[in-house]
Amino acid sequence: MSRAPSSAAGPGAGSGQGSAPGKVILLGEHAVVYGHPALAGALSQRIFVEVAADAAGPCVYLTSGESAPAELVSAFGAMAAELGLGASLRATVRTELPLGGGLGSSAALGVALARALCEAAGQPCPPGRAAYLALHLERVFHGAPSGVDPAVCALGGLILFTRAQGSAPEAVVTLAPGRPLHVLVALTGIARGTRRTVLPLAARREERPALYDPLLSALGELARGGADALVRGDLADLGVRFDAAHGILAALGVSCTELDELCAALRRDGALGAKLTGAGGGGAALALAQDAAQARVLEQKARARGVQCFAARLGPEAQSG
Ligand code: PMV
Repeated sequence: MSRAPSSAAGPGAGSGQGSAPGKVILLGEHAVVYGHPALAGALSQRIFVEVAADAAGPCVYLTSGESAPAELVSAFGAMAAELGLGASLRATVRTELPLGGGLGSSAALGVALARALCEAAGQPCPPGRAAYLALHLERVFHGAPSGVDPAVCALGGLILFTRAQGSAPEAVVTLAPGRPLHVLVALTGIARGTRRTVLPLAARREERPALYDPLLSALGELARGGADALVRGDLADLGVRFDAAHGILAALGVSCTELDELCAALRRDGALGAKLTGAGGGGAALALAQDAAQARVLEQKARARGVQCFAARLGPEAQSG
């Protein structure tokens, strides 16, 4: 990692700011890659970006002074070029989200960069455009992303997302939960790249579609019904769906011992349901709580076991803009 040179350009003409929240996938990860729906929600933790002129650009630095990986810098350059901006730009990134933890940091960074660059270019950046531009970055981390992460990071709140397929356009339904949705996000501490689970699963499915396709469809059905349960405020229903989804994801080979044990412990602690969230293979687990008080109890119990975790409320109040 290189350090930022000290001659950072200050804000001025061509400068801009943007931010976006992280996310969790409640149901439907992996299945969403194959055209099934996924249920996702924004977190209150965000990534913030400032873009300013810098003759040494394009360059991307964290506030710690660390330079971002080369492929991320080139995705930033491609985004700037698409907006008609020159290459002489620096982005400075501040994050409240753990990076590479399955909480949407790459999508949040993509949406925040899109917003900052659009401001620098004097162009509007509605959610659809922010999510589209963020795909430049998503492709670096994901290969062929479904688009669910940038969609929820750009819109905020809770959504049921289905990717574009053939002539059918992408479908995004914004959901209002019938009851407040309190969860615990628990980190395994195992960093993983999304490609490391998505691509091997694609290869297994290619070899045995008759085995894998019904499992992926079942995950999509759990997400579809989960959206209905969420709107009805039927948390018990949603909790069973979390447990069922985790079982299927484990059968698909995208879980790991640490995630399985973490979910089992969260259920023993009283969670209504627990599952891996995102690509799996490490990253984070998501537990559903009855209410805010139970989410805090789950947090205390997990912390007492040395688990890094935080309680969160998902819903329209976790805004994006
Ligand atoms: O990168 P993650 O952990 O948020 O996972 C993305 C969700 C997947 O369904 C596994 C991949 C995708 O492109 O939708």
